[in-house]
This record gives sequence, C-alpha cells and structure tokens, in this order.
Amino acid sequence: MGRTPNDDRGDRPTAPEASGVEGRLEGKSAAGETALEYGVVTTPVLVVGAGAAGARVAISLAEAGVEPLVIGKRDYGDAHTTWAAGGINAALGSLDPEDEWAIHAADTLNEGHHLNDPEAVELTAREMPDRIRELEEWGMPFDRTDDGKINQRYFGAQSYRRTCFVGDRTGEAMLETLIDRAQELEIPYRENVMITRLLSDGRRVSGAIGFDMETGRGLLFRSEHVVVAAGGFSALYDRHSSRDDENNGDAQALALEAGARLLDTEFVQFHPTGMVGERYGEEWDGRLVTEAVRGEGGRLYNSDGERFMERYSPAQMELDARDVVARAIAREVREGRGTDNGGVFLDISHRDDDYVRDRLPSMVERFESLGVDITEEPMEVAPTAHYTMGGVDIDFQTGETGVEGLYAVGEAVAGVHGANRLGGNSLAETVAIGKLVGEHVASAVTPDDREPAVEDGQRALAEREFRVLETLSAADGEYTPETLLEELGELLWEHAGILRDEAGLREGLDRLDELRARTADLEVEGDRTSRSFEYAVDLSVSLTAAEVLLRTALERTESRGAHHRTDHPETASDWRTNLLVSVDGGGFSIRRRGIGEPSEPIRDALEEGYELDYHHLE
Ligand code: FUM
Repeated sequence: MGRTPNDDRGDRPTAPEASGVEGRLEGKSAAGETALEYGVVTTPVLVVGAGAAGARVAISLAEAGVEPLVIGKRDYGDAHTTWAAGGINAALGSLDPEDEWAIHAADTLNEGHHLNDPEAVELTAREMPDRIRELEEWGMPFDRTDDGKINQRYFGAQSYRRTCFVGDRTGEAMLETLIDRAQELEIPYRENVMITRLLSDGRRVSGAIGFDMETGRGLLFRSEHVVVAAGGFSALYDRHSSRDDENNGDAQALALEAGARLLDTEFVQFHPTGMVGERYGEEWDGRLVTEAVRGEGGRLYNSDGERFMERYSPAQMELDARDVVARAIAREVREGRGTDNGGVFLDISHRDDDYVRDRLPSMVERFESLGVDITEEPMEVAPTAHYTMGGVDIDFQTGETGVEGLYAVGEAVAGVHGANRLGGNSLAETVAIGKLVGEHVASAVTPDDREPAVEDGQRALAEREFRVLETLSAADGEYTPETLLEELGELLWEHAGILRDEAGLREGLDRLDELRARTADLEVEGDRTSRSFEYAVDLSVSLTAAEVLLRTALERTESRGAHHRTDHPETASDWRTNLLVSVDGGGFSIRRRGIGEPSEPIRDALEEGYELDYHHLE
C-alpha cells in the first residue's frame, strides 16, 4: 500500500519545556575534518519512544525523583498508542466476579501457545487491576456499568469479560491520561527526533545518536541509561493496521546492533479484521476494524451469506483466537467464498443502533465518512498485520537487555504474548511492565549519572554516524527509499504472511538480498528534514528486522499460534522453545532457549480449563 502521512488528531497538548537539555554543549569535529556542528544533550535517563510504554516508564522515573528525557519521532502527544482501539485487560471482575489474575494469566498462556515467559505473564496479570485503578485515578474516562463500576467487554479467547474500554478509542484516552500525568510531573519531552544508532561498545550503552527531524541537525544524547520503547515491526508489511511510519523495526534493529538479543521474531499477529482497500480506498487498506465489533456481537459472513466460523470454531465462533479467525478468513477467500475485493463481511447491524453508536463511536464515524452506516449494513474486512509478539529479549523485573545501561519495554520486547497475543494485552503490558521497568531504572541511577561527561570516543562515534547521515542525505542514485520500502512490504506479505513454507521463505530471503543490494543506489529527494530522508533511515532498520523475521520463520519447522507453516502444519512439543537471535560476526546467529514453568496458581487455572463461552453473546 502507499505510504500515507499519519493521522493528525488536531489539538494536542504542548510539550513541557525540556529546559537546559538542548544544545547544552556544542559538538565540533576533530581538526582536519570538515567542521560538524551538532547538539549534545545530557540526561540521567533517555527514553526513546513516546507511546504508552515510554510514558509509563518516565512517570515511574519522575515519581522516584529522576528526571528522564523522553524523545518521540512525532509531535508531543502523538504516538502509535492513539490507534489502539478496543480495550485493555485486567481481571477486575466488574461483570464476571469469578475472574481473577491467574485466569487472565492462563488465558494469555493458552493464546500464546505456551511460548510466553510465564514470569512476564504473571507480572502483567497481577499488576493490571492496580494499573487500571491508577489510570482511573489519573482521570481516564473508562466506560461504566449502570452501577458505576469500570465496564468490561468480551474480547477474543478470554474466559470472562475482562477488557476495560473507552468506547473504541481506548488507546487515545489512555495516552492522553498518561500525558496529563507526565505534565503534572513536568517530564521533559523532545519532539520530532529520530534515533539512528545507540552509543554502544557491545557491552554497555552510553547514549544515542540521531537528528532533529525539523531542522536536520545531528544530536548526540549522552546518558548512562537508555530505555527503548519504540514499538514493533508490523508496519513492515504491505498491509498493516499500524501507522505507516512507525512500527518499522527501529527498536529491534537498534537494540540488536547495540549488542542485545531478539526473541521469537517469527511471530507476527495478523488481526482478522482490517479494512479492505479495494472497497474503501488505498489509504484505508488494512486499517483496524476493532475486535470490539466482534466483542459486542459482530458476526462474520462469507459471500454466500454463510456464517463460516460455525465450521471452524463452533464453540467460540468469531471470538476465537485471532490466528484462528484470520486463517479462517484467508481460507474462505482462497477457496472462492470471499468478496470480489478479497474480504468477507463483518456485521453488527442486528444490534440496537444506539448500542452500536455508544460502544463503537469511532467505527460508526469512520465508516459514515465513507458512506457506510454500520448500524444498517456490514463492513468488508480481511486480515492485516497488526502486532509483533517477537522483539528484544529482556528481564521482565528490570527491563535489562544484557547490555549494561540498555533497557527495553512495550511492543519493542518479546515475552508476554508468546506465539500469539490476546487482544487487550498490549496496552496492559505497556503500563504493567512499564511501571516496573521505570522503578528499576530509577534505582540504578547514581548521582554521577545525572550529569554524564561526554567522552572523546563517544563524540567520535557520533561524528562518524553524522557523516554517514550526511552522505545518505546526498544520495543521488536510482531507487527512492519509498519504493524499496513498498517492495519490502509486498515481499513480506507474500513470503512471510499468514501461511508460510520453506520455499517461500527462502525466496523471500533471496529477494531481500536483491533489495538490499539496491540500497547502494538510493535517491533521497530532499534534505534531512524530508520524508524521503526519514524513509532512507527507516530502510536500513527495516531490512534488518525483515531478515531476522524471515530467518527465524524458516528456522521454526512447526506451526504454532500466528506462525503457520503449511509444510509443517503440526505443533511439535519439542518446539516449545524460544528462538534467540544475536549478531555474530557479519550475520545473525539463531539458537534455542528453554522456557520456564508457570507458578502454582496459574497451573491450577490452566488445569481448570477455563474458556470463553461465546454463546453468552447470542
Ligand atoms: O481490535 C482491537 O481493538 C485491537 C486491540 C488489541 O490489539 O489489543
């Protein structure tokens, strides 16, 4: 699909002054070379990424008396979190008092096909009721039950109504709440900064290098603690639900290059219901139709008018796990029972109009703007790349990556979701784990870390990177980065999509090599403030993330959750193992790592065999 600018939501809060952090020192390159001017910024903790995970880390830090600097690629208040729609999970038991954290954990492990890190799952599920109450205290306008409790809806593959929500704009409301809290704490923020490299010797990180996207000026951030919270890599795919210019693998590529390991990068979630571009227009291709539509009773029909989930999952129907529903839709389309545009129909019109308008206001509004009244007629949908379960390997108590001073959190990391993610657990992870990581990093900051000195070696590394960027911005070859990114998206959709096999993955790797070769002949249109330059920088991280994805998908010769190998359709018990990726010499090394067992309360919940009873919704 074409790359379109991200949605501009209009009024945004103003960023608190990042007082004293800009250009505190001025860089000058070594004698004999062309003078290089760049800004140097020092901070005790640098948080790269300004979505919910980065914001929650920063709040913990500030509450502990450590002032971090948060940097984001976009304007203050604008991050991918704003596109998270349907809700956030916590075993509050507002409507189903039987629910409890251990059942939330058991559902998460079942959905993740037991590839999850059981400790990460337990931390998330245990933390969540308190994190929801905290968000409520900070002003998040949750939907309420008639008796004033936080309302909860059904979401796929969850045993109880556990997903708290703000209509169908939960992520936006949550980020606004976190930003209000960050403003109260006067957390400094720097907008429109792109990080291109971490300052690392492979064992320890001491800052980050990037540039100001509004002025093009190089920036050296010197910090003893860097938290990467820059999202996943699902937007690499041609058809995706993310904003086009985010979630393109920068978090993973930066961390990997700095010496960290990646985990389970073959697991990409395809959300069953993305908008179908051929029907609604190219700019809407793959955009999310929230699972809340199905959670509120939405039904899927093929072009023969058949409610086809009856054949694939008679007990859980449209609310079975995302991988099951996505594969069912793909099969209907492949076998000729899809729409002319390659989708199926999602219908909520049997529900009362007012109910639909109340629960799904953004969906109603968006489709209305396209001439479709969803209270009266169905939507056309097909699977779309939505989320990456794989990412940076961390210790979930601390966020540590194994490289001293480098931490990661949010969709950037792997572990909570295993082979497939429960809807509503991504927002949950950001605040549950973000809080813990922020607290840990705060405890690791020493008095000396508050004003770190800039060493010659660090300047030399930064200056080398600035020269690389300078050369890149002057690239005057044949291929625009935009074209190559689009080609990469098509390649991944074709070779590492919902269904994969060895021949296709190998072909994908060959095509990736050809594509990489063409990056030596790039044409960047515009200066360092241009989109073209931004895409040129994206291209290099995106190729790294794509290669790791293809290689791990080839390595895992079984099917599990979101990774479906048509040449290995069975789930193999000896494959209940994580795949760890690190940089080794000039390439990547992939090895297996065993998985721990869950604690007793979770084992008990697993043994009970809880599962969603879809027919409550009928
Ligand atoms: O469909 C949705 O609203 C997505 C939620 C999620 O991925 O958690």
